[in-house]
Amino acid sequence: MNTSKFIIVSHRGYSSKCPENTFSSFDLSIQKGCNHIEFDLQLTKDKIPIVIHDDTVNRTTNGIGNVRDLTYKEISYLNAGLWFKTSEKLFTNEKIPRFDEMIERYSKKTHMYIELKSSDFMLVEIVAELLQKRDVLKMSSNDLFEIPNITIISFNKELLKYSKKVLPFVRHGFLSFIADQDNITTANNIGCYAVFPHYLTINESFVPECSERALFVGSWGFSNVDQVIEIIPFGVRGVTVDWPLEVDRIMNKKFDWYHEGS
Ligand code: G3P
Ligand code: CA
Repeated sequence: MNTSKFIIVSHRGYSSKCPENTFSSFDLSIQKGCNHIEFDLQLTKDKIPIVIHDDTVNRTTNGIGNVRDLTYKEISYLNAGLWFKTSEKLFTNEKIPRFDEMIERYSKKTHMYIELKSSDFMLVEIVAELLQKRDVLKMSSNDLFEIPNITIISFNKELLKYSKKVLPFVRHGFLSFIADQDNITTANNIGCYAVFPHYLTINESFVPECSERALFVGSWGFSNVDQVIEIIPFGVRGVTVDWPLEVDRIMNKKFDWYHEGS
């Protein structure tokens, strides 16, 4: 996979083939050559950061309840793979990963896009402490395209602002539903390196406007690889998708600059 100029981020891991936000999902992504992995963090009742998208365990586990009302011990008994059905494989032993386990397993060999999902400000402090304690900050490259690396992302402006204050030297990215001036200004004011709007709202003027303001543009929200191809002429430099290998293959086929790495 060529990631020297264009980044393909696996959304909650290789989530089209494995249950999202599980070790199987991240391991498969890495095995297929996609070392840019995105995942979501929520806080348990006892303030343990865990990797889960929703604020309840209902959709992706065999349990029920709000993440913030359950202790990590209670959550550790849940199965996070049984809900995901493919004809090829059953996922019978998946657990919800803790953030410290993610660091242990992936921080030396991936670019981790850490999405702050919970709106609890304590999440910022706990994430910062874990990153510092485990030396992840020292290892991270200044170059977005290099591995190992981290980028902290969020839709939540206030949380992102606080995170940038606590971790000023870490790259931050502002997620938004709309590609507009307001969001560019917000990202600049926070001190973000990147903006990540939904792909549908990006037009040909957005990326040049972001470049003028020194912002990298990535995008997300794609339902198929054709939508990724449609957005490339607008100058987007990164995409977050459920099928990283499929995007890599089509990029190789369609764009010389992609496989030549120039
Ligand atoms: O990184 C972008 C993407 O993860 C945002 O959407 O809902 O999957 O967290 P969501
Ligand atoms: Ca996410």
